[in-house]
Amino acid sequence: MSFLTPDQPSKPEEPAAEIASGARLVPRITIQAFCEHSQTAQLVESAVYDRRMSKVALTTHNGGIDGAVETYKSNPTPNLIIVETTLPPEAIPGALERLAEVCDASTRVIVLGHVNDVLLYRDLIRSGISEYIVLPATAQLIVTAITELFAGEGAAPIGRTIGFVSAKGGAGGSTLAHNVAWAIATSLRQDCLILDMDLAFGTVGLNFNQDPPHGLADALLANQKVDQTMLDRLMSKAANHVNLLTAPATLDRTWDFEEREFEQIIEICQRSVPVIILDIPHVWNAWVRHTLATIDEVVIVAEPDLANLRNAKNLSDAVKALRPTEKAASLVINKQGMPKRPEIASGEFASSIEAQLIGQIGFDPQLFGTAANNGQMIAEVAANHKINDAYRSIGMSVTGRQEMHGAGKPASLLKLPSFLKKRA
Ligand SMILES: Nc1ncnc2c1ncn2[C@@H]1O[C@H](COP(=O)(O)OP(=O)(O)OP(=O)(O)O)[C@@H](O)[C@H]1O
Ligand SMILES: [Mg+2]
Repeated sequence: MSFLTPDQPSKPEEPAAEIASGARLVPRITIQAFCEHSQTAQLVESAVYDRRMSKVALTTHNGGIDGAVETYKSNPTPNLIIVETTLPPEAIPGALERLAEVCDASTRVIVLGHVNDVLLYRDLIRSGISEYIVLPATAQLIVTAITELFAGEGAAPIGRTIGFVSAKGGAGGSTLAHNVAWAIATSLRQDCLILDMDLAFGTVGLNFNQDPPHGLADALLANQKVDQTMLDRLMSKAANHVNLLTAPATLDRTWDFEEREFEQIIEICQRSVPVIILDIPHVWNAWVRHTLATIDEVVIVAEPDLANLRNAKNLSDAVKALRPTEKAASLVINKQGMPKRPEIASGEFASSIEAQLIGQIGFDPQLFGTAANNGQMIAEVAANHKINDAYRSIGMSVTGRQEMHGAGKPASLLKLPSFLKKRA
């Protein structure tokens, strides 16, 4: 039974038939639950059998709020944390504040408590806790709370859109995009979707050793009819938490897109996947410009030479002009240290294009050649190579998280978690 307050009436339990037909599905989020009782863990686990939870990755752990605090001191937080607490009401807000200190800004929290107390409920909701559910509860009630939070009418889209664009053809934008997606998927354990927007020549399929029969082209050809269910069918899974919308990579037909051709597809993806990586080809036309103007993060990938510098400067200026109030583009220098090539120093490169340098990747033809020819990521070919740290650090930066120092959390948490920010 959920907690009843005058301003937050509990939702009636939905009849089974309604769930079976038109119920909204919870997006591909990661949920971690920290329970104090094994019955509660079983209850939360049973929630994944609800159809609405079919795309969710859920794990349960012991230890309640303290267990969660310990875990997130050294691990990234998921999209949603569910914590059970048996603390007395006056101790709960304080314990949750300790949890807030180790949480990332975008993480939501649902509390399962044993105390039916209006004042506590209001205090927790005011401090930014997404829901307080009084135990004993049903799995359906928990699922309904999660659905309301992530797929309700007013739920904000969960997907962060990150575009990678090369300053010059072949600078390595695609390779970087794919490896950063891999790093985000493995270190944050969040679902990533890579959109291969280079319809004729894209390499997402090759680089992940996949040749799915469907992909992004089918979504574009379906025009206005594209919806969530269709995108789910067109996506292929390359690895745990890595999903692809591949390019057909054939020359059977040509593609001349309208300015807003990708807009609807990106919007639908944002409602269903937490991280959307756009592999943008090195071309300049209306749809590329519009895409760069509307996504959350733009990463320019450049080799450290003059032509790349000129193009990167133009791209950086264009991005600033297109989105004056949004974040400027970031810069990654790729193929650094190519033998005998005179190079522009990274710091100088970044300051002349007025972009934040978020990574530098060395030139290593043997490693990259092997990975490309095997259809593997760098982390699969050389798990301990330091390039993987650079990819992880870029992944942290573009997803708005601070890089972990060693095994620990960032030295300073500049961002307040959302459930404290609200209070502030
Ligand atoms: N750091 C690196 N060291 C050596 N080779 C690299 C490195 N990064 C990428 N490459 C190689 O460079 C080639 C081009 O990479 P990629 O396809 O990612 O570039 P791109 O900028 O996306 O190209 P396009 O302009 O075709 O979209 C690939 O063969 C890739 O394996
Ligand atoms: Mg490319």
